[in-house]
Amino acid sequence: MDINEIISQMTLEEKAGLCSGVNSWETKPVEKLGVTSIMMCDGPHGLRKIASGFGDPNLKSNPATCFPPAVLSACSFDRELIGEIGAAIGDECVFENVSVLLGPGVNIKRSPLCGRNFEYPSEDPYLSGEFAKAFIDGVQSKGVGTCIKHFAANEQETRRFSSDSRVDERTLHEIYFPPFKKVVEEAQPTMIMSSYNKLNGDYTSESQYLLTEILRDRWAFDGVAVSDWGAVNHRIKGLVAGLDLEMPGSAEPLNDKFIIEAVRSGALPESTLDIAVERILKLIERVGNKKKESAPFDADKHNSLALRVATESMVLLKNDKGLLPLNEKAKIVFIGEFAKTPRYQGAGSSDVNPLSITCALDAVMKYTNVSYCKGYDTNNCDEPDAVLQAEAVSAAKVADVCVLFVGLPPAYESEGFDRKHMHLPQGQNSLIEAVAKENPNVVVVLHNGSPIEMPWIDSVGSLLEAYLGGQACGGAIIDILFGKANPCGKLAESFPLKLSDNPSYLFYFGERDLAEYREGVFVGYRYYDAKKMDVLFPFGHGLSYTSYEYSNLRLSKTEIDDTETVTIQVDVTNIGTIAGKEIVQLYVGQKEKDDRLIRADKELKEFAKVSLGAGETKTVVFTLDKYAFAYYNTEISDWHVLSAEYEIILGRSSRDIAATAEIVVNSTVQIPFRADVNTTIRDIRRMERSEPFLKWLAETVPFCAKINDDPEPYVPEMVLRQLWLMGMMTEKSLDEVQKTIDEKLN
Ligand code: GLC
Repeated sequence: MDINEIISQMTLEEKAGLCSGVNSWETKPVEKLGVTSIMMCDGPHGLRKIASGFGDPNLKSNPATCFPPAVLSACSFDRELIGEIGAAIGDECVFENVSVLLGPGVNIKRSPLCGRNFEYPSEDPYLSGEFAKAFIDGVQSKGVGTCIKHFAANEQETRRFSSDSRVDERTLHEIYFPPFKKVVEEAQPTMIMSSYNKLNGDYTSESQYLLTEILRDRWAFDGVAVSDWGAVNHRIKGLVAGLDLEMPGSAEPLNDKFIIEAVRSGALPESTLDIAVERILKLIERVGNKKKESAPFDADKHNSLALRVATESMVLLKNDKGLLPLNEKAKIVFIGEFAKTPRYQGAGSSDVNPLSITCALDAVMKYTNVSYCKGYDTNNCDEPDAVLQAEAVSAAKVADVCVLFVGLPPAYESEGFDRKHMHLPQGQNSLIEAVAKENPNVVVVLHNGSPIEMPWIDSVGSLLEAYLGGQACGGAIIDILFGKANPCGKLAESFPLKLSDNPSYLFYFGERDLAEYREGVFVGYRYYDAKKMDVLFPFGHGLSYTSYEYSNLRLSKTEIDDTETVTIQVDVTNIGTIAGKEIVQLYVGQKEKDDRLIRADKELKEFAKVSLGAGETKTVVFTLDKYAFAYYNTEISDWHVLSAEYEIILGRSSRDIAATAEIVVNSTVQIPFRADVNTTIRDIRRMERSEPFLKWLAETVPFCAKINDDPEPYVPEMVLRQLWLMGMMTEKSLDEVQKTIDEKLN
C-alpha cells in the first residue's frame, strides 16, 4: 500500500469514515482504493467472534478454545506458557480471519471487588507487564494484531462510563502505567484501547496527556488508539488528543459528519485527520487479511494447551494434613454443583463459546469412581438449601475424603458491575461448615474470579484455588488432586483476611463520579507489607507436593552506580521426592527508608520458573538495572534512584523469604535542589556543598557553633529564617541571607 498515495486520493468523507467502524467489529473499507476492512474481536483468553450489534442475548460467538482467564494464567508466572496461549489464540484468529484480538487487559487489581478482576493478571504492575508482553508477542507472532486495554485507570466497573479516576502522577507511573509502557516499548501492540472513564478530569478517549504526551511523545507508540466500545465523548476532541478510531462508530455515523463539518469549518485541520487515517491504513497494511487461506487450527492441541495452562497455574493454598494428593482407593465424595457445571470463565465481552468443557466429575472417572452430591444450586445459593445440604452431610458421614467444589456464582462478578462484598454465597459457607463438622478430611476447590473471605479456613484440611480454569479446568483439578500433576502456581494477588483490610476499602467506588485512588502506590502486598498486616494468603504464595531449598545467593557486585547492572544468582534445590516447578520471586526494598521518599517495603522486580527433578539443583540468574531500584520522581518527571542501601529479597512468596542480600546503589543523577531561607538543616546537610557552608555557619553564627557536633535533636528541623528572626545572623535582610546561601551553598 502506498499510504500517502491513498490518502491523497481519499475524499474527506472517506477519511472521516475510516475513523469509525462500519459495524461492531469491522472498519470501513475504501474499495476503490483497495483498502480492505479489518475485523477486531475480543478477547483476552479466547476468540469471541460474534455477529454485530447487541441483538439476541442468546446469540453465541463462534466456537473457540476457552483458555483460563488471566486471573488464573497469571499465577503460572510462566512467560513462555503465556506466549503459547497468545500464539494459539492467534492461530484461531487466522482461521476466523480476525485481524486484531482485543486483549490483553492489564488494569491493576486495586480492590478485590472489581467485577472484571478475572480478566486482569495482577495487583502487581511488573507481573502484569511481563504477562502482557508474553501474550502480545505470542498473538502477534501469527501476524495477528493485539489491542492492550483499558488505558487507563479503569479499576472499577461502577459508573465506568462517567467515573473520574483521580490518580497522582507518581502512582500512575509506578502502578497503573507500567504494564502499558512495557508492552508499547517492548512488544509494539498494534492498538491500544482507551477506557470508558475519565482520568484526572478528562475522558481518556480525549486526553491529550494520555494519548499524545504519554503514549506518543514519551513511549513512542506507533499503533492505533481506539476507543472502548461506545467510549467516545467528543469525537473532535478525541481526534485532536490522539484517538484515531472510534468503535463501533456512532449510529448513522453521526460522528463522521461532525468530523467533516469540523474540517470544512476549519475547526479541525485536515492534517490532524490525516494522521489518524495514516495510522489506521498502516494498521490495515500490517494486519489486514492478506487473503490468506484461513488455516484450520488443531483444536485438540489447543485443548491440551488449555489443560496445561490450568494445571500449571492453579494454586495449592493449603495442605496442612497432607490430604492431597488423594488416594484413588479412598472413598471420595465430590460435593458441589461446580464439580459438574464449573464456572470456567467470567461474563461480559471476554465470554468465549468453548469448543468443549471438561468438568471434574467427568475427569475423575479416569482415576476412580466417586460419589457426588449437588450441595447447592449455583443460581440460588445465597441461603443454604436444607435438602441438598442434608444430602451432602450424610454423604460426608461415610466418605474418607470430601472434596467441596465451591466459588462465586456468575451473578456475583462480571464485566459491567462490581462485587458488593468478598463473601461466598452464605449457602456455600454453611455447606462447608456442615460437611467439615461431619468429616475432618475436607478438600475445598475454589472457582472464583477474585479473592474471597474464608470463615471456614481452619475447618478444612486442603484448599486448591482453581480460579476460573478455562474449558479444561476439570482435568487440571483432577490431575492435581490425584497427584498426576504437581501444583506449581502462585498467587498473583493478595487474599486479605477481610475486605476492610484492603487499602482502597474506605474510598473504592468513589463519591458519585469521583473515584480517588487515595491509597497511592500502596496497592496489594505493597500495602499489607508496609502495614505489617496479616493476610489470608500473601501475593506469590503457592504450595507444592515437594519443597525447595534456596542457597548460595550471590551478587556480581555489592555496590553499583545507577548506570550499571548487577547479576544475582541463587541455587534452588528440589529437596523432595517428586519433580516440580518453583517460581522464584525477586523483590527489591530500600533498607533504611527516610523522609526523602515514602515507598513500599518491597516490590517485585523479577521472577523465574524453574523445573527441578527430585534432588536436582539449578542456578537461577537475574540481572537488574536501575529500574529495579528506581522510583518515579515528579520533579524531574522521570525515574530516579535514591543513593541508598537496598535489599535483594528472594521469596517463595512476598512473605516467605528464602534469602536476602544487600547492595548499595549510588545515584548519578542529581535532582536539582536550591536551598533557601526555609530549607531545613537536615536538607542542607544532604547537599553537595553543605560542609563548607555549615562550617561557615558555625564560625559566623555563635548559636550554631556546635551545629556540626552532636547537635540537639531539634537542629535538623531548623531553618535559617529562624536564626535571622532571632537576630543571630549578621545579614540585614532575608534577601541578604538568601544571597549568602546562593553564594556559599547553591
Ligand atoms: C467492552 C469492553 C472491552 C471490549 C469491548 C468490545 O465494553 O470494555 O474490553 O473489548 O467492549 O467488546
